[in-house]
Amino acid sequence: MEKWTKKDLLGLEELSREEIEHVLSTAESFKEVSTREIKKVPALRGKTVVNLFYEPSTRTRVSFEVAAKRLSADVINVAIETSSVKKGETLTDTGKNIEALKADIIVVRHSSSGAPAMLAESLKANVVNAGDGWHEHPTQALLDMFTLKEKIGRIQGLKVSIVGDIAHSRVARSNIWGLTKLGALVTVCAPKVLIPEGIEQMGVRVTHDIDQALKDADAVNVLRMQFERDESAAFPKQLEYFKTFGITSQRLKKLKKNIIVMHPGPINRGIEISSEVADGENSVILEQVTNGIAVRMAALFLVSNSQQE
Ligand code: CP
Repeated sequence: MEKWTKKDLLGLEELSREEIEHVLSTAESFKEVSTREIKKVPALRGKTVVNLFYEPSTRTRVSFEVAAKRLSADVINVAIETSSVKKGETLTDTGKNIEALKADIIVVRHSSSGAPAMLAESLKANVVNAGDGWHEHPTQALLDMFTLKEKIGRIQGLKVSIVGDIAHSRVARSNIWGLTKLGALVTVCAPKVLIPEGIEQMGVRVTHDIDQALKDADAVNVLRMQFERDESAAFPKQLEYFKTFGITSQRLKKLKKNIIVMHPGPINRGIEISSEVADGENSVILEQVTNGIAVRMAALFLVSNSQQE
């Protein structure tokens, strides 16, 4: 790829196959940095990265901070609870003030879909989406694909099943965009109430039968049940969900021996996945977390060095 032209990283829908592959290969070159005794390169020395998280996060926020520090950037985490957001300041005004403080890159997590895109339009600073509403979580999908590629060696032709709360999941949406662009065969599986209407148009197969979803799968990406987002009567109860859709060792025994089990975290043990599977030999859950550093280093590096047309 000749040059990276995107000022911001907002989602995988807007990236081409070539651009996604470029992020993954850039991440590959950064992965080794975290194995050094001095885990640092000067790629973003003198740059300032601000983490602006309006929703709770453990993995993504810490991972972006670690990634920025590994690139030698200065990092500031805005504590939303004690910020002027609590006095009614809008997202755009907060962003403009952070930019006035000479931030170069703003990493945003927000409960509203499209919030990072809105910020990106009004700022010169680079904006990276760390998860917006039910819309996209691009760096999560990139680290999921990075992990698959590392484990199996390719994405093209892989059978990947995404199981769980598809309707409320930005992780599912970003994974579907990314995996289908890279030639994987994607199946989504959940109770009817958790599958958005028309999702087939994104190029995925839909099933409500877990055994059908997992049969022949090379990898399964298990999603958390977002009980906090929907308490309607139609929403499945936890025990009922675990019995019908939970990824358990009994189910795993019937599948490909080397099936890869992924989960973006946080996991709910005994709801969407059993502890035995989450901690078992097919699980790459913690490797995904480690790979998040290299992927986020790549994301920060590429947007910061973008050459707009
Ligand atoms: N996977 C993920 O987004 O986790 P956090 O909510 O902890 O950032």
